[in-house]
Amino acid sequence: MGELKVLDHPLIQHKLTMIRDYRTGTKAFRELVDEVGTLMAFEITRDLPLEEIDVETPVTTAKAYRLAGKKLGIIPILRAGLGMMDGVLNLIPAAKVGHVGLYRDPKTLEPVEYYVKLPSDIHERELIVVDPMLATGGSASAAIQSLKDRGAINIKLMCLIGAPEGVKRIQQDHDDVDIYLAALDEKLNEKGYIVPGLGDAGDRLFGTK
Ligand code: URA
Repeated sequence: MGELKVLDHPLIQHKLTMIRDYRTGTKAFRELVDEVGTLMAFEITRDLPLEEIDVETPVTTAKAYRLAGKKLGIIPILRAGLGMMDGVLNLIPAAKVGHVGLYRDPKTLEPVEYYVKLPSDIHERELIVVDPMLATGGSASAAIQSLKDRGAINIKLMCLIGAPEGVKRIQQDHDDVDIYLAALDEKLNEKGYIVPGLGDAGDRLFGTK
């Protein structure tokens, strides 16, 4: 079973509170989501493997460490995932970015893929799928499946807020994927919004209604 990690760092929690507040306008909302994306990426990358190398300092030769192992890829789910992408890139600027676009079919309510553009070597990368809201988990599950169908084997999911329903869905569909949240909320309401949540993440990020 993939792990569920709720990142309870005080800075993440403080900023998430401001993100939730309905009085927070588009500019501040976007900046805060960006900042939390960076802080969450810091935690998610904690277990990246290192290798020991020699480095010449101005004084002597020192044993030092640098990142080893797989390169990273960031996969925002369109459109709200874009809001978390730059925050992660601040910390991992060399990461490649792939995009997955999904919409929900109004009749079947199932996610339908309308856009996928990925780095050619995703099978060699550690991928971080980003989407602010893990509600039913339908979109995130479909996006992860889409990556797996194209060869990805190493995937983490990073969301601001999750509902228990969404967490369960990912754990059922993709038991190899670790889930990282800033908060695990109470439930979904009848309209599919996370309660207490933050409203519609895409609308709040981009100033749409
Ligand atoms: N998507 C959102 O943007 N907000 C929710 O609460 C649920 C899904």
